Amino acid sequence: MARPVIIDCDPGHDDALAIMLAAGDPAVDLLAITTVAGNQTLAKTTLNARRVCTVAGIRDVPVAAGCDRPLIEPLRVAAEVHGESGLDGPRFPEPTVPAAPEHAVELMHRILTEHPEPVTLVPTAPLTNIALLLTRYPEVAPRIREIVLMGGSTERGNTTPAAEFNVHVDPEAADVVFRSGVPLTMCGLNVTHQALATPEVLARLEALGTPLGSLCVELLTFFTARYRRVFGFAAPPVHDPVAVARVIDPGIVHCVPAPVAVELHGTQTRGATVVDLHGVLGRPVNAQVAVTLETELFWDRLIAAVDTLGRRLRD
Ligand code: BDR
Ligand code: CA
Repeated sequence: MARPVIIDCDPGHDDALAIMLAAGDPAVDLLAITTVAGNQTLAKTTLNARRVCTVAGIRDVPVAAGCDRPLIEPLRVAAEVHGESGLDGPRFPEPTVPAAPEHAVELMHRILTEHPEPVTLVPTAPLTNIALLLTRYPEVAPRIREIVLMGGSTERGNTTPAAEFNVHVDPEAADVVFRSGVPLTMCGLNVTHQALATPEVLARLEALGTPLGSLCVELLTFFTARYRRVFGFAAPPVHDPVAVARVIDPGIVHCVPAPVAVELHGTQTRGATVVDLHGVLGRPVNAQVAVTLETELFWDRLIAAVDTLGRRLRD
């Protein structure tokens, strides 16, 4: 049976693909898409979520805007990676999918309260909305089946030498989430850097022969150029769909249990995830930490989801 899921995102090229994977894969029942400030301002990430839903024909899923800044610090966006719009590359039509009138946190609270089954949250952005949900409505925690997030790293960062973007933008929010006691899976850079959109992947998307497949190629072409320029990568890592893939089939993303803490006070390391893979500190395990991606299964599933959405639009 399909698993009820809410995606909390900041589209973002890889968030766009995460939305398509969640909406197009039969293992997921996508209940809502909530947005937060991160890769770009809240106004832009919300517009982008509506754009993605419009071009992918996702019409029955509410899109709700959440927090427009981190809990403590001013927002730091990632225009160098995602462009001024947050989703540079393709030319998008005027979105026809509206934004819901509810705040993202209220929508999540309502769905968690009303849905007959516990719901999985998939944050692919700074954790501001999720932290606010857990602090404002702690009673909904048992209604969350698990949080499967893209963020952090067992190794180095991408925003500072030590910190990954989603955690670095709002470390206090990440700290709330990692200490919440809700079952948690962390898909960090160490695993998402295995999800590289190579020229072969782009060719497979183009070969789908749908406007949506071609739009994904345009997104990934922009992403490739930016990752080459900023990080020297030959092919860009599509981080966010990895978290969705873990929900779809745990066999695609292998994890190990480990204690994870968020560094809040380091002068050089604020926003780092300190992952005690060998348990040397003797602290309790609070997360499943993703370590290995079954790359072929991952791309098969992502491309199949884009195909499903593209055909649905055509037929
Ligand atoms: C994360 O940061 C964002 O730029 C991406 O969308 C992804 O969620 C990778 O560090
Ligand atoms: Ca993201």
